[in-house]
Amino acid sequence: MILLHVITFCTIFCAAADIFSLPNIGATFGNSPTPFEIHVDRDFIEDTRQRVAYSRAPVFIGANGEGPSNENFTNVRDYWANEYDWNMTEASINKKLQQFTTIVEPVIENDTYLVPLHFVHHHSPREDAIPLLFIHGWPGSFLEVSNIINSLTNPPNGSVPAFHVVAPSIPGFGFSPAPQRPGFGPTEASYAFNALMCQLGYKKYVIQGGDFGGVILRFQAHLFPENVVSVLSNFWIIQPTENDIRRLAEGLATPDEATYINILETYINQASGYRIMQQTQPLTATFALSDSPLGNAMWIYALMAEVIDPAIMAWTPEEIITWSMMYYIQGPYGGMRFYKEVANEGALEGLDFGTLPLVEVPVAISQFPYDITYCMPLDWARRGGNVIKRNVHSHGGHFAAYEVPDLLLRDIWEWFGDKEVSGTKAFLS
Ligand SMILES: *[C@@H]1O[C@H](CO)[C@@H](O)[C@H](O)[C@H]1NC(C)=O
Ligand SMILES: *[C@@H]1O[C@H](CO)[C@@H](O)[C@H](O)[C@H]1NC(C)=O
Ligand SMILES: *[C@@H]1O[C@H](CO)[C@@H](O)[C@H](O)[C@H]1NC(C)=O
Ligand SMILES: *[C@@H]1O[C@H](CO)[C@@H](O)[C@H](O)[C@H]1NC(C)=O
Repeated sequence: MILLHVITFCTIFCAAADIFSLPNIGATFGNSPTPFEIHVDRDFIEDTRQRVAYSRAPVFIGANGEGPSNENFTNVRDYWANEYDWNMTEASINKKLQQFTTIVEPVIENDTYLVPLHFVHHHSPREDAIPLLFIHGWPGSFLEVSNIINSLTNPPNGSVPAFHVVAPSIPGFGFSPAPQRPGFGPTEASYAFNALMCQLGYKKYVIQGGDFGGVILRFQAHLFPENVVSVLSNFWIIQPTENDIRRLAEGLATPDEATYINILETYINQASGYRIMQQTQPLTATFALSDSPLGNAMWIYALMAEVIDPAIMAWTPEEIITWSMMYYIQGPYGGMRFYKEVANEGALEGLDFGTLPLVEVPVAISQFPYDITYCMPLDWARRGGNVIKRNVHSHGGHFAAYEVPDLLLRDIWEWFGDKEVSGTKAFLS
């Protein structure tokens, strides 16, 4: 009932918007933005803690690189069972991030969708602030915006741009209810997020995102060039062609091309098992992960651990638990199966990355050594659209906004601060 698509349903039910709900959390979704605070049912929190306390450990055989370690399992279990304080976590998220719920009604191929959304929205006091849509990815959530949001809305001085920041949860993640029927992929998310920006009065805006955020922004910039002025992606992926691979085999690849292909192949061969499962049979794994909060946390931590720069940060048990709760509270199926929708829309093809829509608005890309787009050359990046600027960093990883906020902020300020090249002079009038 969450994702009604028939217009008559809309006329009947739009007023009775409280039909939209989330398991284990009191949330209402109406036709305009309403302030929202996280308050998860305390019986559910205690049930979760008990499941963790009773978790059965695998019989470890001392192999490396097959998933989180015995030590990780034990650390997270013990912390969760004995010390983790959801009350404090919830209160600190609510204090730090101003959240809202709403329903948007994009019309996609003559179907009116009703999409309930949870989002963060911080308005800048600066009069010249630019609306910025921040889109999170897998296995993250809206929490990825936490470490950059205040500097974006209140930059240190007037020589760098300020932003009104909107950070929605993709349906199925965080506190945006999962779609109740298949067919909601990056195209539909683009329509929904564009409708959200318009509902907030931001007819023109820029986008920043990594992972799924970096995928969705390419659909959205392609579909709504009148609204999306410019984008900065820290996950601009291009699948190497057969010719690129042959050139590497023949020793003709440049150092950047060789590094990029090797990183991609290592990821595909050694670290993408979760992805193949999620884009083919997401329900199969979901039975286990819905039932075992610790299993769910290990599922996402396996990837989280691989894609950060160990010289910069180490995940704490508290972060691992809190990030996993952004899937576990409403149930992980909707978030898990977004991969399937991304594959259905062509952006993943079996083990490879697929073809993404061409972006014609100005694009900047940022690359970090612990992410899989690292070193991709600019001429390859341009196969995906109008990529003008490429920032290559010497440290950091996949969750740039969270892990190396100062580096990403610098890229955001430089790119969108260049009014001519990025096109943000459109906001001057
Ligand atoms: C996870 O295990 C690895 C390898 O044993 C270790 O380096 C890391 O600190 C552990 N992290 C946690 C949160 O237990
Ligand atoms: C958390 O809050 C609930 C009620 O909101 C209370 O019953 C419980 O004791 C609190 N737990 C902790 C660890 O403070
Ligand atoms: C949408 O409706 C218009 C007008 O009725 C029609 O011309 C068009 O073919 C429809 N498009 C789709 C994708 O059904
Ligand atoms: C303004 O802040 C930016 C970002 O921190 C910094 O790079 C720049 O030097 C500052 N400019 C002035 C005039 O203080």
